[in-house]
Amino acid sequence: MEVTSSVFIDMKAQELREAYVKFFKDRGHAFIRSASLVPENDPTVLFTTAGMHPLVPYLLGQKHPEGKRLVDYQKCIRTGDIDEVGDAGHLTFFEMLGNWSLGDYFKKESITYSYEFLTEVLNLTHDQLAVTAFEGMGNIPRDEETAEIWKNLGMPEDRVFFYGLKENWWGPAGITGPCGPDTEIFFDDGRPKCGPDCGPSCNCGKYTEIWNNVFMEYFKDAEGNFTPLENKNVDTGMGLERVLRIMNNKETVFDTELFAGIISKIEEITGRNYSDEPRAFRIIADHVRAATFIMGDGVLPARIGQGYILRRLIRRASRYLSNLGVDDIVMANICEVVISDYRESYPELERNREQILTNMEAEERRFHSTLKKGLRRFDEMIAESKEGEVLDGAQVFRLFDTFGFPVELTKELAEERGFVVDTEDFDHRFKEHQEASRAGADMVFKGGLADDSIETTKLHTATHLLNSALRKFVDPGITQRGSNITAKRLRFDFNLDRKVTPEEIEKIEEYINGLIKQDIPIVCEEMTYEEAQKREAVGVFQDKYGERVLVYTIGDVSCEICGGPHVKRTGELEGFKIQKEESSAAGVRRIKAVVGKQ
Ligand code: SER
Repeated sequence: MEVTSSVFIDMKAQELREAYVKFFKDRGHAFIRSASLVPENDPTVLFTTAGMHPLVPYLLGQKHPEGKRLVDYQKCIRTGDIDEVGDAGHLTFFEMLGNWSLGDYFKKESITYSYEFLTEVLNLTHDQLAVTAFEGMGNIPRDEETAEIWKNLGMPEDRVFFYGLKENWWGPAGITGPCGPDTEIFFDDGRPKCGPDCGPSCNCGKYTEIWNNVFMEYFKDAEGNFTPLENKNVDTGMGLERVLRIMNNKETVFDTELFAGIISKIEEITGRNYSDEPRAFRIIADHVRAATFIMGDGVLPARIGQGYILRRLIRRASRYLSNLGVDDIVMANICEVVISDYRESYPELERNREQILTNMEAEERRFHSTLKKGLRRFDEMIAESKEGEVLDGAQVFRLFDTFGFPVELTKELAEERGFVVDTEDFDHRFKEHQEASRAGADMVFKGGLADDSIETTKLHTATHLLNSALRKFVDPGITQRGSNITAKRLRFDFNLDRKVTPEEIEKIEEYINGLIKQDIPIVCEEMTYEEAQKREAVGVFQDKYGERVLVYTIGDVSCEICGGPHVKRTGELEGFKIQKEESSAAGVRRIKAVVGKQ
């Protein structure tokens, strides 16, 4: 597409990050580091999908230690489109540049800042921009104010568009949370409109969304009601890869500097050219980049949760490498390029280098040993079926169980051959299998949690309350000696050389149920280990903590160093009951307890 190149500057990713941070720092914003891809404050989502995730408690009114104006670049994962990756635009991992006002400035300043950044720092002109505003819904009015602000800044009237809920309302990111109307900013590449209705919501390619300013003034609850938030906040997000593509006048994000090193490594490994196999190259590049970042935040390949998404990414990339004729274990070499390209902005990659490389290699090896056999089995399945036929769940389950094929991978293979998978039957078998393996033993993963379900999250929070109650009512010298959580109950071991009396148990239950009734918010903060010690946060395995730790505080009841996840408010526990108190070892007692309405 022809564009006036005079306004384009040859910007590097790091320059863009720095220019953005500096612009907002100069306007009173404090820089905060990217949070983990595994959300600490929202158990309703698997990954951090936007810069606002780690800020949810602050958008809900909690005071942020850095103040009311924040700026960052945040690593994000969006998993909805994994199977679309391979085209020109989709990515699973991306970076979001963002700025926030926590109850400070609102629409006018937010839009003015965006406008100035785009026109003065990135040198974009009016005819390269188009903007949108919310057209209203129920008793939430049409956002004329936003449109006026844009027009007063000089945006021509025919470049300001109104849309409804689907386009111009953002959030919540999970099931509940902060949300509001937004104004989206688009890059217009200058080609003629594809028709009379062509506008930013059209997907002809003329418009690319680059920035979203959300005016977060509502809270959506579990019943779907919207209530005004205590503060009017601003949450903005700008896609780094997209902006870089535009600034450097590249056809796709994969043609930007961000992918150059990764793609040339894949060329070296495969002996093929990117331009001959763009789809396979993009899948491998995106998936390995995403997997490197996910493992950099401590996630391991697994059968559930974040670990399952990680596994899918690695295995899909592995199949495409195999399609390109690669027979060796090679993906850790690509991870190395990702680590070295990104270590300046995301030092955790360098810190966790060994862990990333070892786990990548192990997972690739695991899949490699069954990939060929599984593909042969898949070919047999196809040969036994007729085109357009449905592959039955039992066969697909066998590919999953015996050969480690994620069902999504089998679906993709099937579609390539004109077949479909009976997903319902597969899901049914998968559930049966999960229940059977759960019945055998209490599954225990990282942090003593069985899985990432809401139930285990509640029990995790209950453990903090119990830990504190034991010190209050039984003995101030009590510390945690062990914790194990399944979807049904918590188990907590602690030092004590006598039984906990029935009276004490009653007091503990009464106390914790009282805390649940008070619906106290749970606040998660990241800080140095020294800061956490100063706050007298309770820790468990002191020597295992890194330089920065997460501290969960529940009112003045509990303050613990912990990896989470936790519920947002104690009320979500609904109730608490101790089921058993027994001896665990010499000088160690054990309590089993449940949550929920009793
Ligand atoms: N949360 C908004 C988005 O993801 C703005 O960052 O688009």
